[in-house]
Amino acid sequence: MSGANIHWQALDVNQAARAAIKQQTPRCIWFTGLSGSGKTTIANHLEKQLHAQGLHTYILDGDNVRHGLNRDLGFTEADRIENIRRVAEVAKLMLDAGLVVLVSFISPFRADREIARSLFKEGEFAEVFVDTSLAQCEQRDPKGLYAKARRGELKNFTGIDSPYEVPLKPDVHLQTDTADAAELATQVANWLMPAPHPGVS
Ligand code: ADX
Repeated sequence: MSGANIHWQALDVNQAARAAIKQQTPRCIWFTGLSGSGKTTIANHLEKQLHAQGLHTYILDGDNVRHGLNRDLGFTEADRIENIRRVAEVAKLMLDAGLVVLVSFISPFRADREIARSLFKEGEFAEVFVDTSLAQCEQRDPKGLYAKARRGELKNFTGIDSPYEVPLKPDVHLQTDTADAAELATQVANWLMPAPHPGVS
């Protein structure tokens, strides 16, 4: 718990200065969706597109972060809440460093995604719903985890015996059956940096 005796330190090189030297607006692009929905594949394409445009980016991916910072956490409700709390705080630090951060976590609970959003300034955070049906994810089953969950060998699996709360008003809603991952990434990129209006220089 943060204590009454701990004070916030103001630093001279601030977010604006760090972002200015990178010539970019820091952002948190938060991908949410079922396991196997394509979050990380799309985030990977988006990062390549942004990187090619000279932006300074980073991807925080659930499977990867769970190998390090969050290796002590499992998949109970309490652990998922803590998982999302920590990654949201890490993303916030990375935005303070001036980066464009892509977060790719199932993040199944609406309340936790809203808490994540609340850490950021207006316009900094975008929720991207990777909308792939459970049937489709289960058919893909790239890691064989749905099959394990159906056999009862894996408990608390999202979509099987642990809930996924769909976003009610995502900033970007990706219908993954309509386009491939690269095109879906472009949809997010277009949302981030809309094409200039004709006639406006
Ligand atoms: S979250 O729900 O806490 O946001 P996170 O994105 O970090 O999940 O991790 C999800 C990944 O962990 C899945 O893509 C899958 O590979 C793996 N995994 C292992 N066990 C589970 C489980 N019980 N439920 C969901 N994903 C699991």
